[in-house]
Amino acid sequence: MAGAPPLLSVRDLCIRFPLADRGETVRAVDGVSFDVVAGETFGIIGESGSGKTTLGRALVSLLRPTAGQVLHDGVDPQTLSARALRQHRRDYQVIFQDPHAALNPRQRVLDSVCEPLEIAGGFSAAERERRALQALDRVGIAAEYAQRYPHMLSGGQKQRINIARALTLRPKLIVCDEVVAALDVSIRGDVLNLFADLQREMGLTYVFITHDLSVVSHVSDRIAVTYLGRLMEVGPTEAVSERPLHPYTEALMSADPLPLPSHLRSRRRIVLQGEIPSPIDPPSGCRFRTRCPSAQPRCAAEVPAWRELRPAHWAACHYASADGPPARPPDAAPARHGP
Ligand SMILES: Nc1ncnc2c1ncn2[C@@H]1O[C@H](COP(=O)(O)OP(=O)(O)O)[C@@H](O)[C@H]1O
Ligand code: SF4
Ligand SMILES: [Mg+2]
Repeated sequence: MAGAPPLLSVRDLCIRFPLADRGETVRAVDGVSFDVVAGETFGIIGESGSGKTTLGRALVSLLRPTAGQVLHDGVDPQTLSARALRQHRRDYQVIFQDPHAALNPRQRVLDSVCEPLEIAGGFSAAERERRALQALDRVGIAAEYAQRYPHMLSGGQKQRINIARALTLRPKLIVCDEVVAALDVSIRGDVLNLFADLQREMGLTYVFITHDLSVVSHVSDRIAVTYLGRLMEVGPTEAVSERPLHPYTEALMSADPLPLPSHLRSRRRIVLQGEIPSPIDPPSGCRFRTRCPSAQPRCAAEVPAWRELRPAHWAACHYASADGPPARPPDAAPARHGP
C-alpha cells in the first residue's frame, strides 16, 4: 500500500546499561537506524558482543530504548497502555538461540505451545489446543509428541516447538536470534528451510540475527553489518557478500568465505588484529578504526557519515566509494591513531 509505514522502523536507537557499582555505562546499541518492510528477511550479522541480541530484544519491546525509537507499523509500542501492548506484542515475536532454555522442562509440549495464547488471553481452551496442534503439525512435529516432555526430544525438535510457540499467535514479524547456532550442523539446513517455507505460506517478515555468515546469506534479502553497537553497512545480500563497501565487512567476508563460490572469494584473507574493543569506552570517530587496515587520522576525529554509495547500499566509512572499501596499504597492520 502506497505511503504505508514500514512494518518495523528503527530510529537512532540507543540501548545503554548502567553498571551502578562501577559508575560506567555499556553502550550496547549506539545510534542504529533501519527499516524492515513486510515480507522481507533482514539479516543482522556481527561478532559476538556487537549488540545484536540487545538490538533484537529492543525490536520486540523486551527492552526499552534509552534514546531513539522502535516503531511497529508506525506506532511506538512504548506509548501504549499495558493492555494494548499485550495485544500488540502478538504481532512481533522472538525466538532465541537456546532451544533447551526456552522450554520449561516440567511442561508437556502441548502446554508449552498453548502458553503464549494463554498469556495473550481471549482464547478458549479448545481454541488454544486447536491452534497449538495446528502449529505443531506445521513445523513437522507429530501429534504423538504433544504429550511428551522436552527431555524426550532432540535439539532440532525443541527448536521446532519454539517456532510453533511463536506461530500460534500468527505474528507479522519474528526476530530470530541465532536460532540454528545451538543445533547440529546436519539439521541446520532443514530448520532454515522450515523458516523459508513458513515465510512463503504465512507472509512472515523476519529479522535474522547471527554471527554465522553462511546462515545469513542463506536466508536474507538484505544484510546489516554491526560493529560495537553501530551499523557499518546495509545492502542487498548479494552485494554485501560479493562486493562489500566497508573494510569491516570485507574482513568478515574474507574470513568466512564459505557461502561464496570460489571465483568470488577475496584473493587475500584479511585477518582482523585484536579483539573487539569494550562498549564501555568505544573508540572515538569510527568505531572500527583500532582494527582497520585503512585507518587515517581523520577516522579518530570524525564519526563517518552514513552514505548511500550504491543504490540501496549504505556504509559508514570516510574513504569507501562505489568501487568498494578504501585501498589497503600492502601488509598493513591496523593503524592506531589516538587513544
Ligand atoms: N543486561 C546487561 N547489562 C550489562 N551489559 C550488557 C547487558 N546485556 C548485554 N550487555 C553487554 O552489551 C554488549 C552487547 O551484548 P549483546 O547484545 O549480547 O551482543 P551480541 O548478541 O552481538 O553478542 C556486550 O558487551 C554485553 O556484555
Ligand atoms: S577507513 Fe577510517 S572510516 Fe573507514 S572503516 Fe577504516 S577507520 Fe573507519
Ligand atoms: Mg547474541
